[in-house]
Amino acid sequence: MSFYVPYSDLPSEAVALDSAIDSLREELDATNLYHQRYLVLNDEPLKELMLHNRDEEIEHCAMLIEWLRRKFPEFDRELRKYLFTDAGITRIEAVPDGGNAGDPAARSLGIGSLLR
Ligand SMILES: [Fe+2]
Repeated sequence: MSFYVPYSDLPSEAVALDSAIDSLREELDATNLYHQRYLVLNDEPLKELMLHNRDEEIEHCAMLIEWLRRKFPEFDRELRKYLFTDAGITRIEAVPDGGNAGDPAARSLGIGSLLR
């Protein structure tokens, strides 16, 4: 838990957000842990189990990100902007909010060509 102001001042939604962020951090750490174990183990069945566990943690990460998206329009906006496109990640900011880097409209503005 990471509280930067007195806990008693926070509404329940802030406590929920803190729990979600902590959980996402834990799932990412677990993903890292299982991935590293997968890489170094020589026992094939155990190696396979580590890979299975890693992928389960990735699924949990995705679930938490989806929770954040549903709760916060700002996450929804940014995830829609940055995910599922082949555009250069650091160039996507050039697309106006509400735009989609892979969208023909963005391309027609000449923005799409800047994004590759
Ligand atoms: Fe998990």
